[in-house]
Amino acid sequence: HSKYKPFQAIAKPDRRWPDQRIEAAPLWCSVDLRDGNQALIEPMTARQKSRLWDQLVKVGFKEIEVGFPSASSHDFNFVRELIENDRIPEDVTIQVLVQARQELIEKTFEALKGARRAVVHVYNSTSTVQREQVFGLDRQGIIDIAVNGAELVQACADKYPETEWVFEYSPESFTGTEIDFALEVVNAVTAVWQPTPEKPVIINLPATVEMSTPNVYADQIEWFCDNVARRDSLLISLHTHNDRGCGVAAAELGVMAGADRVEGTLMGNGERTGNMDVVTMAMNLYSQGVDPKLNLANMDEIIQTVKECTQLPVHPRHPWAGELVFTAFSGSHQDAIKKCLAQQEGRDHWDVAYLPIDPADIGRSYQEVIRINSQSGKGGIAYVLQRDYGYEIPRWLSVDFSGSVQAHAEESEAEVGPEAIFDLFQKTYLNG
Ligand code: KIV
Ligand code: ZN
Repeated sequence: HSKYKPFQAIAKPDRRWPDQRIEAAPLWCSVDLRDGNQALIEPMTARQKSRLWDQLVKVGFKEIEVGFPSASSHDFNFVRELIENDRIPEDVTIQVLVQARQELIEKTFEALKGARRAVVHVYNSTSTVQREQVFGLDRQGIIDIAVNGAELVQACADKYPETEWVFEYSPESFTGTEIDFALEVVNAVTAVWQPTPEKPVIINLPATVEMSTPNVYADQIEWFCDNVARRDSLLISLHTHNDRGCGVAAAELGVMAGADRVEGTLMGNGERTGNMDVVTMAMNLYSQGVDPKLNLANMDEIIQTVKECTQLPVHPRHPWAGELVFTAFSGSHQDAIKKCLAQQEGRDHWDVAYLPIDPADIGRSYQEVIRINSQSGKGGIAYVLQRDYGYEIPRWLSVDFSGSVQAHAEESEAEVGPEAIFDLFQKTYLNG
């Protein structure tokens, strides 16, 4: 709903690498209520889950992993609540996680009784370290767990034909698994499920722990897409964590390498350093003129909900969302922004230095853009006087006045608000 085409300014240099951009949004799956929740100091209450669910639906997620119902009675009850109270919109599918173990799979299907459509996400760990040190199994032992899990999922699904079932399999700790072995496990699972292009299954390839630079993860995804059996009947899904701070980059490169779907959370809450932040990735797409197919227009509401439900703060410099990200303190930035904003009138595209998008696109205002402290220059100060008090001051006066504002800021060692600036202006030039 932007007034402007976003990010024309920054998209321009990108045109030199036209094949190195994501052309369309991936399918998104929110894992806030599962991976996000399991990482919290205090897991969400039923009320918090319910509130976050409503927000995720409002943001426009079409697939939402709502919990691990066989492992937690709270998750079980939450799934029942959604189904029994008819809270799942027609175009939204709930997803639940389960380990590849018989009693857990059976309980999971009980939790889902009566669902119109559901994704059953089954996983087992395949990495060398887990295989050798946690399970004490060889490769065949791990394949057997996955195949038995897939068979049990199929058998349970057959018992509840009234639900439209979608199956998802994760070789957990994919990035710590020999890739040829990961491929073997996945091929064994899909041989059980026999997907077709009309009824695909989701193969999720988690960077359970981020272990490499994002290009390596992307290479793994590309290799996997090229070599996996039945590629046309699979949705390749990414699930990255942020241990090296590159969860978003890895997902972006993974999509460019051929993946169809991305799992992540709002603001990146999740185990350890978090899951891939969907807000950042979606806004990155938006800023390059690609419709992210998520509605982030009311960013403050989203942040408020996430904060209240997770009890975690959002960093003021969080990409796109933090409260300081559309704020310029330095004089040269303020000057450039002021000049560019003055030329925006009548344009159809956004082209303002230092502001990669129009802050209004996510419900922020220009009021936040220029704030004054001891680092600020004449441009910003003139802008505030004009914006808030209608005073268009000549250049010589802004040069003169900026000295007084700077002195005031240094003395008070604080930001100088518009009222204090005007007060000083009156005292200095308008006889009090
Ligand atoms: O990070 C991970 O590997 C997971 C799986 C259970 C998909 O959360
Ligand atoms: Zn995870």
